Amino acid sequence: MPASPTPPASGGAVPQTRIAVIGAGPSGLYAAAALLASESPVDVDVIDRLPAPYGLVRYGVAPDHVKMKSVIRVLQRPFSDGSRVRFLGNVRVGEGGIPLDVLKEHYHAVIHASGSSVDRALGIPGEELPGSYGSGAFVSWYCGHPDHVDLDPVLDHAGVVVVGAGNVALDVARVLARGHVEMAATDVPDRVLDALRGSGVEDVHVVIRRGPEHVRFTPAELRQIGELAGVQVLVHGYTEPAEEPAERRQKQNLAMLAEWAADPGPARPRRIHLHFHRTPVRLLGEGRVTGMVVEPTGGGAEETLDAGLVVRAIGYLGEPIPGLPYDGGIVPNTAGRVEPGTYVTGWIKRGPTGVIGTNKGDAVETVASLLDDLHTLPAPPHPDPDSVIAVLEAYGVEPVTWTDWERLDAEEVRRGGARDAERVKVADLQDMLAAARGRSRVS
Ligand SMILES: Cc1cc2nc3c(=O)[nH]c(=O)nc-3n(C[C@H](O)[C@H](O)[C@H](O)COP(=O)(O)OP(=O)(O)OC[C@H]3O[C@@H](n4cnc5c(N)ncnc54)[C@H](O)[C@@H]3O)c2cc1C
Ligand SMILES: NC(=O)c1ccc[n+]([C@@H]2O[C@H](COP(=O)([O-])OP(=O)(O)OC[C@H]3O[C@@H](n4cnc5c(N)ncnc54)[C@H](OP(=O)(O)O)[C@@H]3O)[C@@H](O)[C@H]2O)c1
Repeated sequence: MPASPTPPASGGAVPQTRIAVIGAGPSGLYAAAALLASESPVDVDVIDRLPAPYGLVRYGVAPDHVKMKSVIRVLQRPFSDGSRVRFLGNVRVGEGGIPLDVLKEHYHAVIHASGSSVDRALGIPGEELPGSYGSGAFVSWYCGHPDHVDLDPVLDHAGVVVVGAGNVALDVARVLARGHVEMAATDVPDRVLDALRGSGVEDVHVVIRRGPEHVRFTPAELRQIGELAGVQVLVHGYTEPAEEPAERRQKQNLAMLAEWAADPGPARPRRIHLHFHRTPVRLLGEGRVTGMVVEPTGGGAEETLDAGLVVRAIGYLGEPIPGLPYDGGIVPNTAGRVEPGTYVTGWIKRGPTGVIGTNKGDAVETVASLLDDLHTLPAPPHPDPDSVIAVLEAYGVEPVTWTDWERLDAEEVRRGGARDAERVKVADLQDMLAAARGRSRVS
């Protein structure tokens, strides 16, 4: 059992209300900002299991969407108030890390902002074959997430299947269809760039179970696949909707899809195929994926799509948090409150939908619930900011501070220079920690 934390050493200063935010993704960082903006004197520790902040902005947003990543300028703002907000990276809370009960002894309240990191499954035969991945794992790989640095998908086959009609499916299709020359200017780790350079992918089949009016793409992302150099978009099974769709987004999508269905334009070296009204039936292959059998949604003759790689981009579930209720992939809550003292925000609160900005209003709502409860929350047994650090040390965890992260950040920017990219990610966890601490493991 780790040693008990040291007693308060604050020299008689009035103790602040101490809040832990678990998860340094958009929802956690918007929550930290909302806490700082409140009139209550709160101190915030933003805790993340990784040595780097920003969650899916760093490990989900596609590498070629560089502008989108500039939101980190907003997300990092709470840390400029270093006296009230600390970053404690490299600290996993829950299973395999610091037990939640132990952590709670140091804070008046905890906000969980841990996202939805578990890939949903199709539940069809062959899904577990090598070469078949959830989008969480696959996207993490090309984004340089330390959990998936070794995924090393084999890209030697001409055909690839991507299942789903959301923006993640489009991201995956685009990254695979885009030439490696363009990807060199992004932050993908060298190992990923090498894999893309050696890629034999020519046909990316996007399998969509419903009709064109039901796609969840945003028009800007759909338009982008039509603008890729060397890529032709082919639409299979286009159908006109029975009724004029209500939303502008749907109308714009339909107009683009109808145009491509009518005229796929000139042949190009690589193709993205959008297959409407097709349901995945099973994956083929022995020892490795070689294809996917699909059928018309509702029944009909089966077809086989040739594929050496299958990525299902069909959504995510939150990881259960020991000690908290869990239902349908989220922690059930009312306006972010699970119970007084325990709150949720972001994808773990509402499920895996919404763009980065959606998490701002979501976090503001959660923080309002917390502030409503504030006067009723008992002081924790160990409110001193140093006590939690002592406990982490007792568990053998050396947190990565904001200054450490800035060192890692600078190292990535330095590496980008060699490739004319803004940065190149350090993906291996030990390399990340070495760079963060200014040690020499990084080559
Ligand atoms: C592939 C993909 C691409 C996307 N692209 C875009 C885009 O281009 N534009 C856009 O607007 N939106 C995009 N989104 C949506 C956007 O990323 C989400 O809305 C947003 O990231 C959700 O924020 P979050 O804070 O709830 O979760 P996350 O961003 O997932 O953050 C959760 C954080 O919690 C940490 N964590 C998890 N478990 C623990 C634990 N046990 N202990 C400590 N820390 C923990 C994680 O390391 C992570 O840093 C994309 C989503 C995906 C999946
Ligand atoms: N550039 C951006 O702004 C950007 C980029 C990436 C992600 N995001 C956001 O992040 C969120 C998550 O994106 P996402 O793409 O993971 O989710 P999503 O938008 O919810 O799309 C999931 C897709 O999976 C399909 N699906 C689910 N179960 C299936 C099954 N069993 N078989 C076949 N298809 C199945 C759904 O089809 P049905 O509709 O038929 O259920 C849907 O098309 C979204 O809000 C998205 O907009 C934004």
